[in-house]
Amino acid sequence: MESRTPVASVLEPWLRLENKVVMVTGASSGLGREFCLDLAKAGCRVIAAARRLDRLQSLCEEINNMIGSSSSSNEPGKDQAIAVAVELDVSASGSSIEACVQKAWDAFGRIDALINNAGIRGLAATEVTEADRGERCVSGRGTAQRASGGRVHTSLDLLEKEWNDTIGTNLTGTWLVSKYVCMRMCDTKQGGSIVNISSLAGLERPLPPGTLAYACSKVAINTLTKVMALELGAYNIRVNAISPGIFKSEITEGLFQKNWLKKIEQKTIPLRTFGTSDPALTSLIRYLIHNSSDHVTGNIFIVDAGNTLPGVPIFSSL
Ligand SMILES: NC(=O)c1ccc[n+]([C@@H]2O[C@H](COP(=O)([O-])OP(=O)(O)OC[C@H]3O[C@@H](n4cnc5c(N)ncnc54)[C@H](OP(=O)(O)O)[C@@H]3O)[C@@H](O)[C@H]2O)c1
Repeated sequence: MESRTPVASVLEPWLRLENKVVMVTGASSGLGREFCLDLAKAGCRVIAAARRLDRLQSLCEEINNMIGSSSSSNEPGKDQAIAVAVELDVSASGSSIEACVQKAWDAFGRIDALINNAGIRGLAATEVTEADRGERCVSGRGTAQRASGGRVHTSLDLLEKEWNDTIGTNLTGTWLVSKYVCMRMCDTKQGGSIVNISSLAGLERPLPPGTLAYACSKVAINTLTKVMALELGAYNIRVNAISPGIFKSEITEGLFQKNWLKKIEQKTIPLRTFGTSDPALTSLIRYLIHNSSDHVTGNIFIVDAGNTLPGVPIFSSL
């Protein structure tokens, strides 16, 4: 984003987002971390939220040092934090989430945009107990489909707690964080922009086997996006979703280590590259926060380099 020419910054006014306050969930790694860094560079104040507070704090330190050292002494940023960390578990109860949202709101006195990015694809191996393994074996029918980290299982092997965790984090969490942020946006009559990070698994294009809970959560996020856009338009709150293709992060770590992935990229991806989340996703997020997108709401933006167009699903289990 920084390498854009001055002409681009005139033609694309959303490259600068001075003093917008943006809350990003799932900011401790992967895409969320990238979004925070990019938004801070664009001039935003950033509220970085997730469970791993140590990671958030080091991210905020990096941002505050970066912005502080690049601003002149009379600009905001020299003596004021640009980024703050807020510990947030989006799978917690509504009342806990509300308290975290209040803390986030109070950090800068408002929130102009919320990026609902926190998400999981299944249980981490360390979260699966012996009893869970037994439950999978008892089913014995749905052979586990190994994906990025071997965490994906067919509908017959899926554990109930895996389903609940995935739906609770990806879907209920997105709704509850949005609910409490939007309530405050409505009360203050300031409007705002909500961006939900969905997935190709949420589209009616490829339906990857072995991702039942994840795909259901992302399909539902797309519906949530449209219904909330419909209901909140009257309050000048816009709600959109982004369905990213495949980008490097903790979730896709294992996938990017597969040798065949390079071949798929070169032979089947229409643009011949998966691209990188910055600028592929960050430029769209900047646009959706900026007033240039004032009339854009209820959309699902696919950013996948054409990945899903050929109609051949790129299974992570290949
Ligand atoms: N990377 C891709 O190719 C890709 C493609 C399509 C969609 N996506 C979506 O993009 C989003 C980000 O994924 P990523 O690829 O960047 O994965 P990632 O590196 O694993 O990041 C996931 C983030 O979500 C946070 N998170 C998980 N559970 C949480 C909870 N209960 N409460 C609060 N935060 C929680 C994690 O932070 P803590 O563990 O610190 O809480 C982490 O920061 C997800 O919604 C994912 O479905 C990614």
